[in-house]
Amino acid sequence: MIGIIGAMQVEIEGLKAMLSEPKTETVSGIDFISGRLGQTSVVLAVCGVGKVFAALCAQTMILRYPVDAVINTGVAGTLCRALGIGDVAISSDVVQHDMDTAGLGDPVGMISGIDIIHIPASRTMAALVEEIAKEEGCRSITGTIATGDQFLCDRERKNWIRSTFNAIAGEMEGGSIGQVCYVNKVPFVIIRAISDDADGNAPEDFPAFVEQVTHTSIRITARAAAAVQERIDHEQSLD
Ligand code: ADE
Repeated sequence: MIGIIGAMQVEIEGLKAMLSEPKTETVSGIDFISGRLGQTSVVLAVCGVGKVFAALCAQTMILRYPVDAVINTGVAGTLCRALGIGDVAISSDVVQHDMDTAGLGDPVGMISGIDIIHIPASRTMAALVEEIAKEEGCRSITGTIATGDQFLCDRERKNWIRSTFNAIAGEMEGGSIGQVCYVNKVPFVIIRAISDDADGNAPEDFPAFVEQVTHTSIRITARAAAAVQERIDHEQSLD
């Protein structure tokens, strides 16, 4: 089974519409909808915006459903010139740009306890998503996705995140979902269509483009769920 998490309804509703035999369970105010996307068994959830809701959702999903892998799908602000509105950012890893114990001598972004800054996403999943994006005619880049409890719309902050973490896109949930998956040893990937420039135009561009670009992230995610499950099943059959 593949778990699919989006922060907002618009990031998930296109997948819900494709689901057969849907069954809903509500935990802590979050609806978990399990069913089949074609031949693939999935559970979908709209977690809400920000790191706390995202972590709550990912942990609940992992505890209550037999998920082999988790996909976080949705939109992001671009942090690099090569990604424009409608293009796709795929995670090689995630960071939390608002994690900061530098006052205690740690590097900015280091997550105490696991003591790393960059949490690795599944390489296998990222490679499958890259392939699908290409087949769908989408420009994509795989790299670091930066997460924090902040809507990015300021050039200085954007440049700081890009230069500090070498990040390609910024959003508000992926790093948190990645941390939950990492500690639970569940492979994950983030798929984000670019909705805005994470700069001065973001407050206007985000609402203007969010609906349009989620068609791209949803199309790729639907195919990715099937491809990832097929790969996992194949690897397990070799064990
Ligand atoms: N998701 C989409 N655009 C974003 C932005 N500019 N900042 C944070 N999250 C986002």
